[in-house]
Amino acid sequence: MENNGMPVVKFFSGKKVPVELHKVRIVQKLHLKTIEERYKAISEAGYNTFLLNTSDIFLDMLTDSGTNAMSDNQLASMMQADDAYAGSQSFYRMESALRDVFGKHYVLPAHQGRAAENIISQAFISEGDAIPMNYHFTTTKAHMELNGGTIFEIYTDEALKIKSTNPFKGNIDLVKLNDLIAQYGPERIPFIRMEASTNLIGGQPFSMQNMRDVKAIAEKHGIILILDASLIGENAYFIKMRETGYSNMPVKEILREMCSLSDIVYFSSRKVSSTRGGGICTNNKDLYMKMRDLVPLYEGFLTYGGMSVREIEAMAVGLYETTDDTVISQSPSFIAFAVDEIDKLGIPVVTPAGALGCHIDAKSFLEHIPQSEYPAGALAAALFIASGCRGMERGTISSVRDENGKDVLADVELLRLAFPRRVFTLSQTMFLIDRVNWLYQHRKLIGGLRFVEEPPVLRFFLGRLEPVGDWPSKLIKKYKEDFGDSL
Ligand code: F0G
Repeated sequence: MENNGMPVVKFFSGKKVPVELHKVRIVQKLHLKTIEERYKAISEAGYNTFLLNTSDIFLDMLTDSGTNAMSDNQLASMMQADDAYAGSQSFYRMESALRDVFGKHYVLPAHQGRAAENIISQAFISEGDAIPMNYHFTTTKAHMELNGGTIFEIYTDEALKIKSTNPFKGNIDLVKLNDLIAQYGPERIPFIRMEASTNLIGGQPFSMQNMRDVKAIAEKHGIILILDASLIGENAYFIKMRETGYSNMPVKEILREMCSLSDIVYFSSRKVSSTRGGGICTNNKDLYMKMRDLVPLYEGFLTYGGMSVREIEAMAVGLYETTDDTVISQSPSFIAFAVDEIDKLGIPVVTPAGALGCHIDAKSFLEHIPQSEYPAGALAAALFIASGCRGMERGTISSVRDENGKDVLADVELLRLAFPRRVFTLSQTMFLIDRVNWLYQHRKLIGGLRFVEEPPVLRFFLGRLEPVGDWPSKLIKKYKEDFGDSL
């Protein structure tokens, strides 16, 4: 796939390489510790990468949430922040940026994406409602279910295939959508939710055509369409790269078109604008009024919504910057590079490359480990031992137990390696690829994990595990044989 106009250059050898179209002016020291220190750190963290201390981490690829690099202009804008409980000028600057970038007039601030989900869920969902969507996100599902809703993931047959050439695995299946509306009736469906660059299936986008089709069905039945825009810039970028008719359109215009098809747009600005915070936007005053009074109750006054004024300023600037073609393409270009290299090595990885990160298929990487021994969690721990790189388990550890106490096995067992915007260099990326490859060559040395401490809710955050058998020692021994004293 060509990367037209984007920062991917062709080398003399023919190889395509993403080059950084920014220079690094503020840096943070990193540590690459010895394998023994890495082993000690992951043991103390209960083999859960969420519980690691960043002082032990080399490349922190846990998430892009709140970890994207800020620009010089964003940092400068923080100096003009206007501290005020009510009526802050900072808020009006952010409101104006949101009106401009998303094309929505009414703006409600929230302290992060899940807070926006809480407000939307409380405002629109009643007991027994059905909510169709392309795929859930953990916090989305939790809030919707708390308010009595049931979510229905009506993705297409391609969505969960690890290896695919389908450019839009995030599409909604229109037949399933019509069936669901017929089954529940439009009055039991408060809204349809489309998530841009669908996170949990590997950052996979939907097409503009699919969104148009969903909107037409929604309108026919008088149902509103809500867009989770946390990764909207990347989805718009993929439409530009992959959908007929968009290759010459700036990402900003594509993004506006996506928003114009949505009645409500909400987002985590920890992702969308490289700052922290979140918000909800709409052009419909009635919808706005249904949500408005929940903001002072849960978030803070309407002109800060739980965010610091400095973050609000940086968000206003970040919204313009991260919807610029060059800036938004940086992370997907690095991800595509890593996915291509890993794929060429024969290592199972989600294709086509999506947004947010590179997603390794732990189920086939570690096919000797049963899902009940958490292959994605084991791979995350093994990668940390072998490289100091921290990824995130997105498999059965991130799932739940059923009423009989048995694990509900996840649809997919993924190790997510996030590429926050403009944070890592190409040599760091190559180090990661090399250690993933080394692990793949020695994958039989890796064993499973079992819980030693398991919280009843969202166990992946704070749960502690231990290896089944002493596989880490065998892995370390082999590493020393192959790399000697090299870190
Ligand atoms: N929606 C999507 C699609 C997300 O990816 C996230 C967060 C949220 C909503 C919630 O936003 O964290 O600001 O409350 N995703 C992060 C991640 C946590 O690591 O993928 P939040």
